[in-house]
Amino acid sequence: MDELPPFLTGQQGIAKAAELLKAGHCVAVPTETVYGLAADAFNETAVRDIFAIKNRPFIDPLIVHIYVYSQLAELTELSEQHLASIKRVTGAFWPGPLTLVLPKSQRVPDLVTANRDSVAIRCPAHAVMRELLRHSGLCLAAPSANPFGYISPTTAQHVRDSLGQRCPHILDGGPCEKGVESTILDLRDPARPILLRPGPLGREALEQALQLEIGDPAADDSPTLAPGMMERHYSPSKPLVLYPVSQLPPCLVSEVCIHLKRPTNPQPGEFWLSENGNLEEAAANLFQLLRKLDQNPAVRHIHCETPPSGPGVADAIRDRLQRASQR
Ligand code: TXA
Ligand code: MG
Repeated sequence: MDELPPFLTGQQGIAKAAELLKAGHCVAVPTETVYGLAADAFNETAVRDIFAIKNRPFIDPLIVHIYVYSQLAELTELSEQHLASIKRVTGAFWPGPLTLVLPKSQRVPDLVTANRDSVAIRCPAHAVMRELLRHSGLCLAAPSANPFGYISPTTAQHVRDSLGQRCPHILDGGPCEKGVESTILDLRDPARPILLRPGPLGREALEQALQLEIGDPAADDSPTLAPGMMERHYSPSKPLVLYPVSQLPPCLVSEVCIHLKRPTNPQPGEFWLSENGNLEEAAANLFQLLRKLDQNPAVRHIHCETPPSGPGVADAIRDRLQRASQR
């Protein structure tokens, strides 16, 4: 087997990643949510490679990452009403873990948007990703850098472990701060915003910025509105069973129990997502712990505590766990 190149790091790594992307290669990149598998959004051959590397169906559209707000102009067709709503949320939350679904311009390749008349756009906050976007001047199409349906990567090594030779170029920006994918807000109709995917940024914060209530996709609409939100997703290969807070069963041999908060007297097989029940910390650790336990051959069964629905990142943790637990 060919040896894989070392991770790209520092300013030199960013320059090399920019060069590779401009030459039409895919590069795995860090963001504050999860690692993405990036390509120049306007290079259809490169975008096609993203789908091939991930084994992702062409019906699942990609998010386009931009450096500055002004790049929206080349990607979208917006009314005054759109602009007013967009300014409210981007003023408060960009750069950051917020993706907006907006009417697309003709220029965006249909491959990126899975033939939709809308495009998903995000302006990430991670310093390394920002420097890459600035230095390259590109708009980067990037889904999470995992094989389709598996747990999203939150370190460069996770990307290497699951994509291996298929993605030789990885820009290492350290572990992801948020640990779950961005919140996706559908603003195609600015008068009726819809939350397509819960994420690090909670619904109440968005509603406050918009001064509007945010709706949910109609149950039967959900797969067509946001096709990535299929029932089973983010899944470990071992059975994962969920419990309300404080109702985890005792842990048997070859089973593990994941608590939200460190137990006072942890037993073998007990793990926790945060020291004191802080949900931001729990979200940051969620995928890496699931991955670690999934890859441990001694573990046959995973039990996990789920937070109740609530503000901030609570709904995103619930959503990812629910999808990961679908068999
Ligand atoms: O945090 C994130 O958003 C990460 C990082 C890498 O930026 N990216 C990410 O991408 O989670 P991905 O491909 O795993 O999820 C993208 C999802 C699609 O599955 C779909 O649900 C939604 O975004 N999406 C993209 N374009 C859309 C569109 N035009 N209309 C509706 N939903 C769209
Ligand atoms: Mg994904």
